[in-house]
Amino acid sequence: MAAYVYQRPKLYKLQSEAFFNDFRYAWIEGSTKSGKTVSCMAWIVEQAIFLGKEGREFWWIAPISSVAAIAFNRIKRGIDPYFVRRIISSKGDEHIVLINGAVIRFKSGENADSLYGENVWAAVMDEASRMRVEAFYAIRSTLTATRGKLRLIGNVKGRKNWFYIGRRKAEAGEQGHIFRKITALDAVAAGVFPQEELDDARRALPDAVFRELYLCEPSDDGGNPFGLSFIRQNIAPLSYSAPIVFGGDLAKSVDWTVLHALDAAGFTTSNTRF
Ligand SMILES: Nc1ncnc2c1ncn2[C@@H]1O[C@H](COP(=O)(O)OP(=O)(O)O)[C@@H](O)[C@H]1O
Ligand SMILES: [Mg+2]
Repeated sequence: MAAYVYQRPKLYKLQSEAFFNDFRYAWIEGSTKSGKTVSCMAWIVEQAIFLGKEGREFWWIAPISSVAAIAFNRIKRGIDPYFVRRIISSKGDEHIVLINGAVIRFKSGENADSLYGENVWAAVMDEASRMRVEAFYAIRSTLTATRGKLRLIGNVKGRKNWFYIGRRKAEAGEQGHIFRKITALDAVAAGVFPQEELDDARRALPDAVFRELYLCEPSDDGGNPFGLSFIRQNIAPLSYSAPIVFGGDLAKSVDWTVLHALDAAGFTTSNTRF
């Protein structure tokens, strides 16, 4: 009898590089519908096929159980039946048992305490930026004994969250971590996302929301009251005209006192003769 050959679904180059590599942790910041979930579905199934043994656990974590169930249904539909021994579809306990005994389990990250205890051989945190850091701590602990790999995928959602901080560390070259960004422009170039849809989203959504969801550019978490678009509109070459108004930020103890001079047209000027 001929041996069965596993075939990975066709992914575009950025997807394969971001997810299928030897790094233990991969942080992927991706635009909406750039193919993060589909790549991780292929990845977790592959991990379970190649590392799976009787009772070994492979986990898919989403912010809430109904989102985890979406991935369950997609994997259920997509997985080659050759690999499947049993599928359990009970609500809240969705899992797939492979012929090698590996269990791919779909869970909510809402209650981090419920994630402790198992030894997990590989895990995906889908929509990681929408989960609390406690879920990450829990998942990390389940991967300790096995030295299992973790794939963290999500949209950009401001800067003040654990996903953004983690991916910054990965980008800076933290050992064992890789960071990749996949924007809607990459997905358009790869032919999996229609340009018209991108243009429509740009028109329909507020600029800051569009930039986060489609271009992976973080907003300022409300720390900037004017919004980045106003600041962008006001960037101009430095003026040499006479200043007519000054603004001051007096430093009380830690940083610098700053004086900002504007000319009659409202541009920043370096002319200090007044
Ligand atoms: N390499 C690919 N080839 C063909 N279709 C793809 C590919 N990657 C993603 N897609 C399709 O693009 C859509 C969005 O993918 P998904 O993984 O759900 O995106 P995300 O999780 O990033 O929002 C899905 O319909 C998926 O089947
Ligand atoms: Mg997704």
